Amino acid sequence: MRWGTFRNFRNQPETPATNAPLSESPPLSPERPLEDLETTPIPDLIADPLQTDHVWLLREVGRLVVLSETVENQFAAHEQAPTGLGTHLQAMREGLARHIDSEEQVIYPAVLAGNAQEIRGAIRDLELEHVAMDKALARMRELTTDLTAPTDASEEWQELYSALLAVENRIKRHARIEDEILFPRVFFEQPDSQEPGQGGS
Ligand SMILES: [Fe+2]
Ligand SMILES: [Fe+2]
Repeated sequence: MRWGTFRNFRNQPETPATNAPLSESPPLSPERPLEDLETTPIPDLIADPLQTDHVWLLREVGRLVVLSETVENQFAAHEQAPTGLGTHLQAMREGLARHIDSEEQVIYPAVLAGNAQEIRGAIRDLELEHVAMDKALARMRELTTDLTAPTDASEEWQELYSALLAVENRIKRHARIEDEILFPRVFFEQPDSQEPGQGGS
């Protein structure tokens, strides 16, 4: 599956996730240990960290599209210039926006309404999209010499790569929370009544 070909998404106008100036990274809630999230009530888990992450990621990746294009233009002749990074990040952001829209408009509401079994297929699609995200992040590393700025990099270039590392960490942690905590807990708490042995005599 390619990053830009996800299904089941709606087109919605994109709005800035925060009012922070474009040049500044928006604040993020403090990280809570994953083991705490094993027992956090699911509505709370969805509100934070999951929806908090969504807001932060859209805003931050959007900011880094602009920053990467600035660096690309300033250092076009440099042998380690991240050529094509801006275009790649823009595609990543569009894929993220569609993925997040699907979660916020379809998946989370169904989970909160106790209807997880009815959207098993959509949840499976999202899990596959997380695999596609990993591939997009790997491509990002290819374009950035493994997120390692050259010794003569400008401050903006260094800031770009350290911010991209934060994005990578956040996306991986977020997908792990959904794949390994949220969805397993939801299916445990909302079992399929049609499965053998669970539907009564
Ligand atoms: Fe998500
Ligand atoms: Fe997700």
